[in-house]
Amino acid sequence: MDKYITSLDLPSLKSDDEEFIINYVHENIDRFNSWVNVNNFTSRIGVNVGTGFSNLPIVDEDEQRTFIDLFERNGLFFDYEDVIIVLQRSKNNIIPHTDPGRTCTLAYLVKGEAETKFYSMENFVPNINYANAKLHTEASYVIPQRSWYLFNHSKIHGVENFQDSERIQIALNLTSKFIDYQDAVENWKRILID
Ligand SMILES: [Fe+2]
Repeated sequence: MDKYITSLDLPSLKSDDEEFIINYVHENIDRFNSWVNVNNFTSRIGVNVGTGFSNLPIVDEDEQRTFIDLFERNGLFFDYEDVIIVLQRSKNNIIPHTDPGRTCTLAYLVKGEAETKFYSMENFVPNINYANAKLHTEASYVIPQRSWYLFNHSKIHGVENFQDSERIQIALNLTSKFIDYQDAVENWKRILID
C-alpha cells in the first residue's frame, strides 16, 4: 500500500461532463478557488492553521444532486451517507500543509498537471501550513489527469510546478466514512453500490 496516494480502477468521466465541471467552477470561481492558494506564504509555522474543513468549497444540496447524477451517468454509483462532495480549483503552487479534520478523499483530477509532493519533518506538528519548516521530501507524484485516486490529507503535502495552468478537482470527502487513509485504502469498495 502506498502511504500517500493510491490510484483506483474507476472509470474516467466523459469529456462533456468534465467540461461541465470546468464551466461550473469558472462560473462560481470565488467559491471554488483554493483558499490555501489565496491566503498563504507569509505566516510562521505554528501560527497558520491548515485549511481542513473550515474553508473547503463544499457543494450545496442542489449541487450535490447535480454531481451525483453526473457520476451515475458515468457508471459511478457511490453510497453518499456521511460523504461530502468537494470542488476545488487552484493555480500556481500550494504550500506544504496538513488538513485539519480531513483525513482522506477520493478525488478525480479533471485537469491540471502538477507535481504533488509529500514531506516529513522532525517533531511533526499537525494541521498547519509549513511555510518555514525544515521539511524532507518523502515522495513525489504527477497525478494523471482524468483519473481517480485516494489522497492522504494527514501527511504533509504540497503542489509544485504548475506552469501557470489551473488545476480542477472533484472529490468525495471520506473523512466521516473511514477511520483514516489506511482504512480507506483497505476498504474503499464499501462506498460502491452495485
Ligand atoms: Fe491539502
